[in-house]
Amino acid sequence: MIDIEKCRITHYPAEVLAGQAKPVENIDDNIRQLVKKMAEIMIAHKGIGLAAPQAGVPLRLFIISLDGSPQNVRVYINPTVTSDGTLGSNEEGCLSVPGVFTKIRRCKTCKVTATDLDGNEFSEEAEGLYARALQHEYDHIEGITIVNRMTQTARIAHRRQLKKLTE
Ligand code: NI
Repeated sequence: MIDIEKCRITHYPAEVLAGQAKPVENIDDNIRQLVKKMAEIMIAHKGIGLAAPQAGVPLRLFIISLDGSPQNVRVYINPTVTSDGTLGSNEEGCLSVPGVFTKIRRCKTCKVTATDLDGNEFSEEAEGLYARALQHEYDHIEGITIVNRMTQTARIAHRRQLKKLTE
């Protein structure tokens, strides 16, 4: 049972952001409440995606709303994201790594398979910002953040902010 009241945005280097998350076993009221809370946190912080570990919950679940609006929030439960092909570099930020915007190389396209809140499985091909958001959020449930993905040069450029977060 997840205590929804205790869900807060987590910041690097929190332990919950560094481990592999566990599968969601049942889509019950508790999970529905968690998704609602995650959407509130994401919108309050003006994000376009949020993974459960970012709310302190180590489960394989994330949400995305590409325009940041509540009505376009989509839910991905126990997702798999597979990507290959051409890489592209673009600026990314992360609500769990505040103050850091950095170029991250990711595949330009990807495929996602996941279960929605009604328990229906779906698959989609994605490109552009959507593909980037899916890969970013999928990283979170695998325990990977942009801090792991940033270049050595970017790490040096952001060393003060990263140090501040670890204090
Ligand atoms: Ni993030």
